[in-house]
Amino acid sequence: MLETRNLTKSFGAVHVTRSVSLKLERGERRVILGPNGAGKTTLFNLLVGELTPDGGSVHLAGEDVTALSVPRRARRGLSRSYQKNTLFDGLTVEENLGLAAAVPTGHATRLWSDSLRQPEIRDTVAEVAEQVNLMPHLHAKVSEISYGVRRQLEVGVALATRPLVLLMDEPTSGVGPEMSKGFHDLLNNLPRDLTLLIIEHDMDLAFAVADTITVLNYGEVVFDGLPEEARGSTLLKDIYLGSWEDA
Ligand SMILES: Nc1ncnc2c1ncn2[C@@H]1O[C@H](COP(=O)(O)OP(=O)(O)O)[C@@H](O)[C@H]1O
Ligand SMILES: [Mg+2]
Repeated sequence: MLETRNLTKSFGAVHVTRSVSLKLERGERRVILGPNGAGKTTLFNLLVGELTPDGGSVHLAGEDVTALSVPRRARRGLSRSYQKNTLFDGLTVEENLGLAAAVPTGHATRLWSDSLRQPEIRDTVAEVAEQVNLMPHLHAKVSEISYGVRRQLEVGVALATRPLVLLMDEPTSGVGPEMSKGFHDLLNNLPRDLTLLIIEHDMDLAFAVADTITVLNYGEVVFDGLPEEARGSTLLKDIYLGSWEDA
């Protein structure tokens, strides 16, 4: 569903992505681990098209998308759950979901209040709101909801575009332990055929949701395999030191 082949990227003399080859099957849930500065976010930027690689390629559903722009990749089903500044504060949760749902249908070019009335959009909004536990907040303005609910809405907005592949960069960063648990439930609620690639620093969450794990260190894939193999790996213990002990 999503594949990279020998992806490389340097900033000046710093090799931030070193020949990264990954392959995600449809419905696979893969967690990317790695210390700060390992190149995880850069890899996401290369995947969605915000950065152009120096070498290598990105493939989505069997097609080489390396030369395609961010919106073109998004239209082909690659979606990223953004943090910050992607929500409309003055609109309600429902309206934000409706706008996102309208993008793939082409209705977004009309007045947003019209697009919310389209039956297919109403259906998508209801379905997504259920999936990410936003039903109690549908009519609240984004400016009124808590930080944790905002994070849920960011995932909802990404889902409302009906992606094949969803990328999430540290979805639980800044939320407390009880929200982390809620996020686990939220991920479990997502459609099983949706392919997920998640950068996550919370080890418990990572091991709970991952079908497969990739570990990046200095821009290089140093582990690619099953969570149970990752747990036993001394290489990972060396990279993570203390934090790995509690996992
Ligand atoms: N646009 C950029 N220009 C220069 N250096 C960058 C840029 N983006 C990231 N880097 C550098 O690349 C390295 C990896 O960053 P990043 O991908 O954000 O790591 P991670 O998400 O794993 O913490 C860091 O050393 C960072 O300073
Ligand atoms: Mg990062």
